[in-house]
Amino acid sequence: MSKSKSSKTLSLLLGAGAMAAAVAGLVQAQAPSMEQAQATASMADFMTRIVQPTSDAVFYISRTPPADDAAWRELENKTLMLAESANLLLIAGYRQDTEQWLQDSLLMRDASVRAWQAAQARDLDALVELNNDLYTSCENCHMATR
Ligand code: HEC
Repeated sequence: MSKSKSSKTLSLLLGAGAMAAAVAGLVQAQAPSMEQAQATASMADFMTRIVQPTSDAVFYISRTPPADDAAWRELENKTLMLAESANLLLIAGYRQDTEQWLQDSLLMRDASVRAWQAAQARDLDALVELNNDLYTSCENCHMATR
């Protein structure tokens, strides 16, 4: 194929692509869908930037228990973020469509909702106690998927 012919083919393809995108845009505009809630980052980024730092606040609770009200409020924020992260594991781009994935995500949510409640109640013992459940929810999914 000559150079000019292949670049013509390319621009035709691009034109078709732009048209398809425009049509898709129209369809989307007409019918917004829950599937438009899409993952923003890679799974690895989501895990290391959001899930890890917020769950560490729970995992290291015995070593560094909240010393004052501000620290407790910070823990409330982190445990709420963690609980909502478990929900985000179920959006398009993060989720894997298996029963196991759903189960492990719900397990993580259950443990982190309890962490949020314990943080609000300033209940250090409850936070120490739910550590195992939270850890298990991470491990179950990692063993199944990594
Ligand atoms: C429902 C599944 C699921 C749950 C629950 C889960 N993870 Fe993950 N996690 C993954 C997957 C899949 C990867 C691999 C991401 C990749 O490298 O592509 C991962 C990777 C990671 C990584 C490594 C990221 C990297 O740099 O590659 C860390 C750290 C991590 N998870 C922490 C946690 C912690 C802490 C919890 C529990 C509070 C948790 N995860 C719960 C699925 C899950």
